[in-house]
Amino acid sequence: YNYQVPRTRLEILHLLLTGLQRQEYRGYDSAGLAIDAVPMAPDAAPNAPAPPALVVKGPGKIVDLEALVSREMAAGGHDPASRFEVHAGIAHTRWATHGVPSTANSHPHASNAAGDFLAVHNGIITNYKALRGFLQGHGEVFATETDTEAMRMLEGAYGLLVKSRHHPGSLVACKRGSPLILGLRGSPGCVSVASPAKGGEATRGAVAACAPGARPGAWECFVASDAAAVVEHTKRVIVLEDNDLAHIWAGGYEILNAEREGDGDGIEAPRPVPRSLQTLEMEVSQIMKGGYDHFMQKEIHEQPESVLQTMRGRVKFERSSSETDRYRERRIKLGGLTEWLDTIRTGRRIIFVGCGTSYHACLAARQTVEELVEVPVALELASDLLDRRAPIFRDDTCVFVSQSGETADTLQALEYAKSRGALCVGLTNTVGSSIARATHCGVHVNAGCEVGVASTKAYTSQVVAVTMVALALSEDSIAKRDARDAVIDSLGALPGALRRALALDPELARLAGRLAGETSLLLFGRGYNYATALEGALKVKEVALMHSEGLLAGEMKHGPLALVDESLPVIVLATRDAMHAKMLSVIAQLRARRARLIVVACEGDAEVEEACGVDCLQPIVNVVPLQLLAYHLTLLRGHNVDQPRNLAKSVTVS
Ligand code: G6P
Repeated sequence: YNYQVPRTRLEILHLLLTGLQRQEYRGYDSAGLAIDAVPMAPDAAPNAPAPPALVVKGPGKIVDLEALVSREMAAGGHDPASRFEVHAGIAHTRWATHGVPSTANSHPHASNAAGDFLAVHNGIITNYKALRGFLQGHGEVFATETDTEAMRMLEGAYGLLVKSRHHPGSLVACKRGSPLILGLRGSPGCVSVASPAKGGEATRGAVAACAPGARPGAWECFVASDAAAVVEHTKRVIVLEDNDLAHIWAGGYEILNAEREGDGDGIEAPRPVPRSLQTLEMEVSQIMKGGYDHFMQKEIHEQPESVLQTMRGRVKFERSSSETDRYRERRIKLGGLTEWLDTIRTGRRIIFVGCGTSYHACLAARQTVEELVEVPVALELASDLLDRRAPIFRDDTCVFVSQSGETADTLQALEYAKSRGALCVGLTNTVGSSIARATHCGVHVNAGCEVGVASTKAYTSQVVAVTMVALALSEDSIAKRDARDAVIDSLGALPGALRRALALDPELARLAGRLAGETSLLLFGRGYNYATALEGALKVKEVALMHSEGLLAGEMKHGPLALVDESLPVIVLATRDAMHAKMLSVIAQLRARRARLIVVACEGDAEVEEACGVDCLQPIVNVVPLQLLAYHLTLLRGHNVDQPRNLAKSVTVS
């Protein structure tokens, strides 16, 4: 909406298409948008229905939608320069769950041929079949195969935007499970209230809130699934809560909450609720490629800075000359966890829960937690935890690790753990995300916005973050002092070690050239580097679309060795750590089978030991050459680096 400065149709389209591009990593198999077709006449009769909106949609990426929009505009004689004083447009990029990518299944969906109501939807409505049946029984006709068309009595997860030609210039946004944020630009008209944010770091807090029912002056409102789509317009946002319904009209908004009551048979009359206005920490430059060709490439090369960002203000490295000061000087401060550390230390277990790369980060840091904290540690893939309804107890601590903070499986596992009474800790890279908000306490990963679908810098920062949690938890142990100090010193050396690993880029590009034509790749690691093998293999699979398998070297003799011959490339992680001797024997056994070996090793052990003195940080450095290899393989094999086939960055469906 732009009540004061009218926007042209071209500007509105540009705004919607750019907003979609910023969120394209969420899904990219089809896209669509709906905008008002003709400007509102200033002397139009009140409540006069506006003509149907212009709806353009189809399979393909946002660039394809852009081309489609230009064609439709020209064909329909829509003047791109027409100005709108009040305007409501909606747009969507899809990752197919129900129904193949096609024009019919693309969003927005219309309630009828006249397009009386138009909706875009993220998430999965789990009871859509029952609702379809019910509505069809009442004579409703459905035009698509998707789960979006039935809107009342919804079960499942959704972020929905609805516009109607009967209410021009108005939008309704509602959500449950899927994220939605409301960005506000314009005059505040707000009142300051105490922040309702839970205990945690400053970035979790809120600065102001609009009073319930307040009708602030001339806001221009942006609703999106991700802050990346609004940050170039405004940094002032409201993160909508589950069952919130935002009514947005020309220059104003109101937030209502439609929490279900009783047996949930329908949505009760919504009531106005206060929601805090937050300031985004994100910078527009973070969502641009800078001088790089791809986001994945940029994010790999950002790692020396991103790990530093994760540690900033939390790790105190300085050595003190005074022996008595020595231990006091090396400290970890995790504001979001301080008051929970005792509960966690004295608990029964720490259970780390995540999916994909985030799970690998937990695996990479598990041993550090075991060694420093000496509490039993379990690892769970979120979907598997849910499938098994694994036993979780009141004295367990569950740590939910997620880059996006929105992964549906992880979020559901969190709800499950909460229902079992466990202490739930969030470790996410997205301030204000569903997981950050639903957990009792937590740590922000602070790696900066990650756009490439294949996670790289978030992974290394997650390993650092879990390591910091282990350090904080062990702070009360005198026996662990030396070990802890060694880890803290090595954290200080990490950015330099990462820089040296990144300097291998040209060599990895050459290696990729030799491997690009292969169909399969094995990676062996053990100890801390078992996770590195899994994560390296995942990167190659995800983006280079090459079969690759990360394997525990200790299990090699129990099956995988049968695959080894002169042709299959085998990458072995044999850097100088506690597993070095065992890895040398793995290499010997592979050589005896004439394996085609590629070894990731330290270049001059003394130097590398100095650079990264403790074993537990070695996986953070070792994953870098594998990320670079996956990146170059993808280029050489001609695949899309930032948007790999069939994948999405933030999987908000389970
Ligand atoms: C998707 C992404 C992966 C990511 C996983 C978990 O599968 O493609 O890159 O590791 O989700 O995401 P999260 O945001 O929870 O870390």
